[in-house]
Amino acid sequence: MSIGILTSGGDCPGLNAVIRAAVLTGSKLHDMEFVGFRNGWRGVVEADLMPLGRPEVMGISKQGGTILGSSRTNPFDGGGAARVAQVMDENGIDSIIAIGGEGTLAAAKRLTDEGIRIVGVPKTIDNDLSATDYTFGFDTAVQIATESMDRLRTTGDSHGRCMVAEVMGRHVGWIALHSGMAAGAHAILIPERKTSMDQIIEWVESARDRGRAPLICVAEGFQLDTMDDAHSERGLDAFGRPRLGGIGDQLAPEIEHRTGIETRATTLGHIQRGGTPSAYDRVLATRYGMASVTSILEGHWGRMVALRGTQIVHVPFEDALGRLKTVPESRYEEASVLFG
Ligand code: F6P
Repeated sequence: MSIGILTSGGDCPGLNAVIRAAVLTGSKLHDMEFVGFRNGWRGVVEADLMPLGRPEVMGISKQGGTILGSSRTNPFDGGGAARVAQVMDENGIDSIIAIGGEGTLAAAKRLTDEGIRIVGVPKTIDNDLSATDYTFGFDTAVQIATESMDRLRTTGDSHGRCMVAEVMGRHVGWIALHSGMAAGAHAILIPERKTSMDQIIEWVESARDRGRAPLICVAEGFQLDTMDDAHSERGLDAFGRPRLGGIGDQLAPEIEHRTGIETRATTLGHIQRGGTPSAYDRVLATRYGMASVTSILEGHWGRMVALRGTQIVHVPFEDALGRLKTVPESRYEEASVLFG
C-alpha cells in the first residue's frame, strides 16, 4: 500500500514530527510505503513527488518547517478531484494524509466527497480549529511569545518604558491569552473582545502607578471598540490615520501620547512559527502521525485525527470547518482579573 503525504497552508513547528511518525509507524508495522507531495496540493496537481522512506525522515522531528514544503494552492484551481485521482493512479498511490488547517481540510473534504481517500491531520499555531482541544505548534508559539515578553520586560523595566508585544492571531486570541498570562502582561488584547482606548490607558497607568513598566500583549487581529472591519478595508488604522503598521505599532504612539510614558512596540511575527518545536508539540505531532496511519488502516476517509482530553480520536472534517474555536468569555474574564 502506498500513501502520499502533504503539508499545506502556513507552516507550523511539528509538521516534520507528524511526517516522521507516520512513515515510521506505517513502514515498521504495516509494510506501507510513502511518498511526499512537494508544496502541498500544488505537488499533487503538478505530480511533483519525492521519496519518503526511513532515511528521509531520520532525525527530523526536532526540525522546524516542513521537509515537504508548503503552499496555499487549492486543488480545485488545478483540475480538482479528477486530476488528483489521475496523479494517484499514475503513481500507484492508494490514499493521502493531508496535514493542514481549515483551508486544507475544506479542500480535503470536497475531494473526499468526490471519492478520493484522504485522512487529515489538523495544524495551526493559532489553536483555532474546532473539534480538537489543541493543535501542535501552539505550545511552541506560546513559549516563544512568552520568552520574548520576558525579554521585553527587562528592557522596559530598565528604561521605565511601556512595552507593547504584538503576537500572531488574526481571528482568535489563544496565543495572546496564554503567552500574556505566562508573561504576566498588564493587559491582554484579543480579537474576540473589543476594548476601549480608555480602558487600555487605565491598565497602563495602574501598572505605572505601582512602579511597574507596563507590558501589553496584543493579538494582531485585535480591534478597539471604535474600529470595525471597514477601517482596515479603507486602509486606515485604529485612529483613522493611514495604516502604516500592525495594531501594536498603532497603539504604542497613542499610549505614549495619552500617558506620557515612553512606549515601544515589537511585532513578533513569523519568529513564532519558525524553529524547533517544543517537546509537547513533538509528542502531540508524533501521536497525530501515528494515529493517521490507524485512520488509513481503518478507512476513516473524510476524518481527521484530533485531541480530546488526553485521547486521540478521529472526527469528521466537517466538525472542524465553518466555525473557529474562539477564546471563551470566561477565560478572558479570568485572565483580566490580574490586568493593570
Ligand atoms: O494562521 C496562522 C498564522 O500564523 C496567523 O496567525 C497569521 O496571521 C498568519 O498565519 C500569517 O500568514 P502568512 O505566513 O501567510 O503571512
